[in-house]
Amino acid sequence: MASLPFVLCKCLALLAIVRGAGAALFDVPTPQNYVRRSTAKATVLGNYVYIDGGEISQLDGGKIGSRTSNPVNSTLSIDISKSWTAESVVIRSILKPGPNKSNVHLFTDKEAGAFYSWGGKWIFGINMTETALWKFTADGNGGGTWSLEPPGNPSTFAELIPGEFAAVATAGDTGYLVGGAASGWTQLFRARNQVIPGMATFNMKTKLWQNGTTPSPFNTLIGGTAEFVPTFGPNGLIVVFGGWSPSVVGEADVMASPQWGFDNLTFFDPETKKNYWQKATGDIPPHPRTGFCTVGFQREGGYDIFLYGGMNQQERSAYNDAYILSLPGFVWTKVAESPGGRRAEQTCVPVGKRQVLSIGGLNPYLNAWTTQDPFAQGLAVFDMVDLKWTDSYNAGAAAYEAPPPVKEWYSKGLLGSVTWSSDDVQRLFSTATDDTPGGNGNNGNGGSNDPGSTEEKSTPVAAIAGGVVGGVVALAAIGALVWFLRRKKRSQDIGPMSTAPAHNELSGGRPSEMSPHTKYTPAPPYHEADSHDHHELYSQGAASPLPPKTLPGHSVGQYAELYTPAQTGHAVELDASMPQRR
Ligand SMILES: *[C@@H]1O[C@H](CO)[C@@H](O)[C@H](O)[C@H]1NC(C)=O
Ligand SMILES: *[C@@H]1O[C@H](CO)[C@@H](O)[C@H](O)[C@H]1NC(C)=O
Ligand SMILES: *[C@@H]1O[C@H](CO)[C@@H](O)[C@H](O)[C@H]1NC(C)=O
Ligand SMILES: *[C@@H]1O[C@H](CO)[C@@H](O)[C@H](O)[C@H]1NC(C)=O
Ligand SMILES: *[C@@H]1O[C@H](CO)[C@@H](O)[C@H](O)[C@H]1NC(C)=O
Repeated sequence: MASLPFVLCKCLALLAIVRGAGAALFDVPTPQNYVRRSTAKATVLGNYVYIDGGEISQLDGGKIGSRTSNPVNSTLSIDISKSWTAESVVIRSILKPGPNKSNVHLFTDKEAGAFYSWGGKWIFGINMTETALWKFTADGNGGGTWSLEPPGNPSTFAELIPGEFAAVATAGDTGYLVGGAASGWTQLFRARNQVIPGMATFNMKTKLWQNGTTPSPFNTLIGGTAEFVPTFGPNGLIVVFGGWSPSVVGEADVMASPQWGFDNLTFFDPETKKNYWQKATGDIPPHPRTGFCTVGFQREGGYDIFLYGGMNQQERSAYNDAYILSLPGFVWTKVAESPGGRRAEQTCVPVGKRQVLSIGGLNPYLNAWTTQDPFAQGLAVFDMVDLKWTDSYNAGAAAYEAPPPVKEWYSKGLLGSVTWSSDDVQRLFSTATDDTPGGNGNNGNGGSNDPGSTEEKSTPVAAIAGGVVGGVVALAAIGALVWFLRRKKRSQDIGPMSTAPAHNELSGGRPSEMSPHTKYTPAPPYHEADSHDHHELYSQGAASPLPPKTLPGHSVGQYAELYTPAQTGHAVELDASMPQRR
């Protein structure tokens, strides 16, 4: 029998849970309390790694709270001028006025000591605003300040669709976003999911945006990565890895969309946007993936890209394997599997001269946020020359050189045995630029190992002046279209494209199908359960933010289900009956 005091007591207990949990959570918990960090992105400026966005789960009073993961509300930095161990390294937390998002896209301007954050997802959809471009200016001492960066061309900017899961690379002064996907979680007032076709660019000097896209049903990419390779071609090349390509028409369906393997690699000239492909050989990573990370390292005569982990939604599996793709040979070498278990949605950056730092990640198919990461603070280091995983960073490690198996491949003269896809591609890879890498070989998932000093030469990627924007956009459009048409052509060999009917705009009455967590998103199933939880908790009284608003006249179906009073009631019951909560 529920007497009044008992009901009251339940409510108070619940309030205490909500407040108590919030009060004791940290963006950087102690290594003992750290459980998982994921969907953050990182970049390197000078002597510091900066980590932005994402969510974290942690022990609070010996337990994980009822809301397993929470947004990280500050920007973090790690000093790489000194050696450290993952267990003891001090992670600094920097105040952040901007939105606390996951899956942000970062462009890095090493020369200016700044990076830009664009797009991403509002975690829980709280306090959503119009999307803006945020700029972080580092102070050189591991701190820095955030500011809003107004676009140089506001009308183009206004038409951009902010999303998540684009493949990102920075080449010279320009940030490139290939593909991506938008939803009610990535854009204010967005009522339906949208796969974003083609690519968009932002020039960090001129502040001009371009949307080099045509509305084509073929040119999409979700969950891939991109690496700028400054070593080859007149303007360097951007190589795109992995991801999947749903039809731009209708709802994206990960189970039915073609996925990109690693046997045939696609790349383009960042300036001309001309695209190419080349078959790779060696230990080709076996599963198409999303949620993996890539990092590039330049050496004399070549460029090598590390690829680690990730997941495949069709196979419902995450991976702990790692590979190095060596250019110009287009040869993959399998390296040691990570001792930290299968993981996806980690972010990787080059640290020192030859190490990879992997940050966060989790196995979406095994306890996601609730198993404590075997890597202390979620940090692991891979040495690209020793080919070993360690829990410590060595600031004094020597310069990068090809690791023994890669060296051996070249010394056997196997480069001569490459079957090039065309004379053009052979020509591109026949001479390496032995200059230091271009200013900003870096991206949201990793980057190049150049130390980012101001002495380095910039790759001659032409700044796009206002007057030529139109022409370049047209070029970009053609480039992106041809490129994706080619990808599409191959995709037909792999399997049918999603032929999801385009009537989804009308399906507002079927909220579960509109849910970004079940449809387009490469985000794994844990998000379904978690966000359910989050929303239930957030829809209660004082602690409750407003649900994202939808445009009048558009479907509200996407959010209706998540905020129904019935579920709120359910959450109250559930939480109040859980034992031992503070
Ligand atoms: C970040 O802020 C939100 C809203 O204030 C809060 O619910 C969440 O617990 C915070 N995250 C952490 C890790 O403290
Ligand atoms: C990010 O989280 C912090 C801490 O909860 C909060 O103060 C801030 O308002 C949040 N930012 C936005 C834009 O909501
Ligand atoms: C939402 O914004 C309000 C007003 O700026 C702020 O007080 C609150 O902390 C924010 N909520 C979250 C969860 O960040
Ligand atoms: C660029 O414009 C096209 C056509 O209007 C649109 O479909 C696409 O989503 C836009 N791309 C971005 C990144 O906003
Ligand atoms: C590699 O992929 C490209 C682009 O999708 C395609 O045009 C080409 O035919 C593929 N090559 C092979 C050998 O499959």
